[in-house]
Amino acid sequence: MKHKEIVELLSEMTIEEKIGQMVQISGDIFLSEDTSRILTGPLHDLHLSKEKVYHVGSVLNIVGAERVKKVQDEYLSKSRLKIPLLFMDDIINGYKIAFPIPIAQGCSWNTKAIKEMTKISAMESSIAGANVNFSPMVDLSRDARWGRMMESIGGEDPLLGEIYAKTIVKAYQGKNLSDIGKIASCVKHIAAYGAVEAGRDYNTVDMSEREFRQYYLPPYKAAIEAGAEMLMTSFNILNGIPSTVNKWLIQEVIRKELGFKGIVISDYGAIKETITHGYSANETEAAKNAINAGVDIDMMSSIYANHLKDLCLENQEIEKKVNESVLRILTLKNKLGLFENPYGNANQTKEKIYLMNSSNLEKAKKLTQETFVLLKNKNHVLPLEKNKKIALIGPYIDNIGITGSWSMFSDRTKNGTILDIFKEKMGSQVLYAKGCEILRQEEINKILSADGLPTVHVENEAQREQDMIVSAIQTAKKADIILLALGEHYRQSGEACSRSNIALPENQIQLINELYILSKPIVLILFNGRPIELNKIEEKLDAILEVWFPGTTGAKAIVEMLFGEENPSGKLTMSFPQNVGQCPVYYNHYNTGRPHHDNLRYVSRYQDIPTESLYPFGYGLSYCDFKYTQIHLNKHKMRKNETITVTVKIENQSDYAGYEVIQLYIQDLYGSVVRPVKELKAFKKEYFKPHEIKYIHFDIDLPMLKFWNEKLEFVAESGEFKVFVGGDSVNVLEDRFELWI
Ligand code: NOJ
Repeated sequence: MKHKEIVELLSEMTIEEKIGQMVQISGDIFLSEDTSRILTGPLHDLHLSKEKVYHVGSVLNIVGAERVKKVQDEYLSKSRLKIPLLFMDDIINGYKIAFPIPIAQGCSWNTKAIKEMTKISAMESSIAGANVNFSPMVDLSRDARWGRMMESIGGEDPLLGEIYAKTIVKAYQGKNLSDIGKIASCVKHIAAYGAVEAGRDYNTVDMSEREFRQYYLPPYKAAIEAGAEMLMTSFNILNGIPSTVNKWLIQEVIRKELGFKGIVISDYGAIKETITHGYSANETEAAKNAINAGVDIDMMSSIYANHLKDLCLENQEIEKKVNESVLRILTLKNKLGLFENPYGNANQTKEKIYLMNSSNLEKAKKLTQETFVLLKNKNHVLPLEKNKKIALIGPYIDNIGITGSWSMFSDRTKNGTILDIFKEKMGSQVLYAKGCEILRQEEINKILSADGLPTVHVENEAQREQDMIVSAIQTAKKADIILLALGEHYRQSGEACSRSNIALPENQIQLINELYILSKPIVLILFNGRPIELNKIEEKLDAILEVWFPGTTGAKAIVEMLFGEENPSGKLTMSFPQNVGQCPVYYNHYNTGRPHHDNLRYVSRYQDIPTESLYPFGYGLSYCDFKYTQIHLNKHKMRKNETITVTVKIENQSDYAGYEVIQLYIQDLYGSVVRPVKELKAFKKEYFKPHEIKYIHFDIDLPMLKFWNEKLEFVAESGEFKVFVGGDSVNVLEDRFELWI
């Protein structure tokens, strides 16, 4: 359609039809045989009349070509103007092929790998009928208690957030949204959702504007610059005002300053929640606040559907805003080609050929391997030697639940488990014992009851637990090395999964303690969606391979890695705390007036634990040994339009080939506002042959030195800087330079 035709279409619409476009509901309703459900079923709570249901502009979480077509047909059959529905979904880490969860993808420090995963995911989703994906989530996150850490692609770093946001948006959308394999990206959550107090989901966010601009805003900005079609508001308040009705945020910053022209959608029920927040006094006010702030689509509440019309009749300004919103929505439908073909790229034949195809599964496995982070490898216990007897122990050894809490559409049945892959490799003679459950039933029951599901009683649980440990000990005794697969339950991280205890579950710690007594090397494969508190067990383990929730091909990827067919190259994007009391802990913090050094009393420290994280940002080992020497700056004074080139020598002192992520950090030593002790400014992922030496260069330029000053201007200031290069944010070589402007 031409733009003119869209404008004409808009002029033909009744006010009810326009407002309908601004409402999103769950798509199931259109699949129901019994349409009376519309009035009595789940939508009853939404207080939507049947007529209004057939006016809605979009639905969520309907996917699969057949289902999409059915819903679209049912909807269009009763719609006067035949404006197709938009289908929006949460395809967070892949559709049928589950890729590693976002926190893991970020640890690859490889934009090509992330792009590749996103493209496969976009292709699978597009032929399954998705038009818009609620991804990427680019909320900077510093607090491991927050369950949604698992979705945070850039972790605690704004630069990573920026780079990944750009990569993912472009990979989803391509050049032409109607092309097969392309879908619109909905970037979330505007804004600063990752800064919820105490890591408790949906909690308050209060921060200075400088902090917001310096750390939290850059990834959203990058996504907008990359052309993201949609943004989702966050559930939290930001400095006293719920984000969803925050005019300063949406109008001033997002639309005016950053020039965002696309659609703003509320998060699930968030417009209505502005009443619960204590901001909007009633539903009419909630509608008024949201439309005035600039929210185009009301996800899963009936506030717009039931209150916008009266507001439009009272106030022409609001009607004008409604027209603008609807125009944006129709424009997106048009870009997706839905007026020509309401099914978009949904195609059952293509689904059969493409979904879960073997070439993509092979690619997925390789990409997954880039996300693993080797946290410890005492005496080079990894890679495993094939001639050693290995005892496989733990609830994740024979478990396909390794796709994370957002992979509701993934095809888990085709997942091999670690046990299956070991059997394929070593024959059926493998030593295996489950050792324990992931969680005790009491813990699982808490999760079940919060989901409204019946709880389960297990007879003699304590005895069963004891028997499992005994059997694990017997199995371990027959082996030279113990391979443990432990971790969080997949329902312990994700939305509404904040935790005050981020250690491994008690029963798993008990298993480790019992096996430790055998004095055999223990290798831990760790499954989780957030940095885990490891301090009680770390010293009992010889090696730790962090695999997060690695997805469909995870088991195979892990076994190959353990045997050295691949070499770990992932680096943490989030600091691992010593214990939960340290949260939030992050590398780019300020120095304070009393930084912790030596064992002094009146310094900024804890009495009982070190100040530093257990594993820092940027950290991750390899089977290679990389040695960094000779940092060199081509000059030590820099003027405004100049650059400085930093060079380091890196030697792979091992017989293995592998990748290393070389990281450049900068510290502005004295500023008109204080600057962090280190900030990541650039990185390179480089391949090294055995014993290869490379000289790696980085250019430092003025934009890298800019920050938000006292007057909230984005500037660089003359003065002295430190530059650091290393394989993580702590073990670095350093030098200094001066900036003269
Ligand atoms: C709530 C979550 O916060 C958001 O990330 C998700 O996309 C929506 N629900 C839709 O399911």
